[in-house]
Amino acid sequence: MPEPIVVVEDLHKTFVHMGRSLEVLRGIDLCIDQGEVLAIVGSSGAGKSTLLHCIGTLDIPTRGRIRLGRDDLTGLSGSKLASIRNRMIGFVFQFHHLLPEFNALENVMMPGLIQGMSHAEVQAPARALLEEVGLGDRATHRPGELSGGEQQRVALARALVLSPKLILADEPTGNLDSKTGAAIQRLFFDINKKHGTTIVVVTHDLAFAESMPRVVTMKDGLVASDDRKRPSGSRDAAEPDAEGAKGAADAGAPVEATEADAGG
Ligand SMILES: Nc1ncnc2c1ncn2[C@@H]1O[C@H](COP(=O)(O)OP(=O)(O)OP(=O)(O)O)[C@@H](O)[C@H]1O
Ligand SMILES: [Mg+2]
Repeated sequence: MPEPIVVVEDLHKTFVHMGRSLEVLRGIDLCIDQGEVLAIVGSSGAGKSTLLHCIGTLDIPTRGRIRLGRDDLTGLSGSKLASIRNRMIGFVFQFHHLLPEFNALENVMMPGLIQGMSHAEVQAPARALLEEVGLGDRATHRPGELSGGEQQRVALARALVLSPKLILADEPTGNLDSKTGAAIQRLFFDINKKHGTTIVVVTHDLAFAESMPRVVTMKDGLVASDDRKRPSGSRDAAEPDAEGAKGAADAGAPVEATEADAGG
């Protein structure tokens, strides 16, 4: 039996804006098993990003409970949350937030350097991940010298460099053409298969969502439906098609999770 990596119980989030309170999450229950790949869909304003931010410890719920692995996040201090985040979570956003003055390799290395790993320690896994996302020959390019899809792949490599158990991606293909978006999608499935990483993707791309073994639909701050096509936790269930699977050297990265891109 796969163990849950994320357990969300009766989660509420209310924003107070100009004296008015806005109930954005109104009682979310969600359990995600280790090794699952799932999509969160729903119309604009449904609360998808807010939920992802709460799960990712970037935002604090108003009420309810979130458990990440064995850690109950309720009432934890900012530094405790940051440490859990660093250990467990990699973020990928629609706008990848790469640092423009650093090249691709340095951007991928950044979460490790911030964690206090030495240059030598983090360089090998970062290089291996750049290879894995098909950018071994772009290591010295700065973000401005990469295409949008390449930048997004660098961001994905960066999210993976500390070997997070959980990837949270918010519209990672949102500003890409369909072919580039499809390549990114395949990478998610490859990474899940190869590393067993749990992957949660918020997306407006219904074809992408449909390729996932599980699709959670949000509406007005609630889970409107939760459809599983195949048994959860089955890592093979996460492969939509074999085409284009990027082999690449085994990263074997002796690493942990990410922080550098958590600010967005
Ligand atoms: N910091 C905030 N203060 C006040 N309201 C907010 C804040 N953040 C989000 N909201 C509101 O909460 C609602 C849900 O926002 P959220 O970003 O979670 O939606 P979403 O489902 O991700 O939408 P989209 O698909 O457009 O990205 C929106 O109506 C938004 O205006
Ligand atoms: Mg959003």
